[in-house]
Amino acid sequence: MNYQEIFQEISNELKGFDEIGQVATYIPALAKGNPNKFGMYLVTEEGHEYAHGDTEEPFSIQSISKVLSLVYAFKLVGTDLWKRVGVEPSGSPFNSLVQLEYEQGIPRNPLINAGAIVICDILISQLENPYDDFIRFVRELSGNPNIQYREETAASEKECGYKNNAHINLMKSFGNIDNDVEQVLDFYFYLCSIEMSCKDLAQTFMFLARGGKNPLTNKRVLTAQETKRINSIMLLCGFYDEAGEFAFKVGLPGKSGVGGGIVAIYPDQYSIAVWSPGLNSKGNSSKGIKALEIFTTITQSNVF
Ligand code: DON
Repeated sequence: MNYQEIFQEISNELKGFDEIGQVATYIPALAKGNPNKFGMYLVTEEGHEYAHGDTEEPFSIQSISKVLSLVYAFKLVGTDLWKRVGVEPSGSPFNSLVQLEYEQGIPRNPLINAGAIVICDILISQLENPYDDFIRFVRELSGNPNIQYREETAASEKECGYKNNAHINLMKSFGNIDNDVEQVLDFYFYLCSIEMSCKDLAQTFMFLARGGKNPLTNKRVLTAQETKRINSIMLLCGFYDEAGEFAFKVGLPGKSGVGGGIVAIYPDQYSIAVWSPGLNSKGNSSKGIKALEIFTTITQSNVF
């Protein structure tokens, strides 16, 4: 398969695409993003890599970090995790509070904000140095020792994080948060602030395409069964109230972030990351979804 040519074909096709969307503005640090950035990066099972556009520039991964924190917490506490957070698609926006009240403070899944906040609470309980341990975990998966939290983004989100404050306080009232709410939320904002390039992202998620093994170190991160669980959660919950649409159009497990990044994996074949900061009304990269739809259509690669 000539992936380089396919990337060019996608890029040509996207020239006429005018639903570019809006950069996220509810986090002031993200409002400065350039909507014209666009990158695609593919890592294959054989270790071949293909790049197109802005693939080396780090951007805010935001909710994509929720998959990595979920994996880390799952490794630490195993199936006990599912007592604190569910595995059902929410069908609601990533920051919706509605279900959380009538479901007694147990978030529907770990990829909506409430679920990711519970995961942060678990990590804080389990780890002596959660910030250092987590970034070390991400660096090892990516093979890039320079990956960092971006304090400015975390601080900017904290300043207007009213809804996330509402989530954590509601969950605390139901007894589903063990630690101090400010401590947990600060950690959550830092995880969202991590910056990675398309290249870093595609490499980082490769272990989920390889049955749980990090191809860079050959170390097992998850068992094959655990990998199935994470990939199924991505497929059903990775795009919130657009998860059905993403499966319908792209057909792969994936995860988006309001920084405009999307990463998706095709088991035993490849991991692909795209970046385009313009978001649709569901908070997912508009052009990013379109690019992946064209990619899986041309390559006829999807899990169905
Ligand atoms: O908590 C928030 O709202 C953001 N830090 C992350 C949201 C996000 O990325 C949703 N994804 N598309």
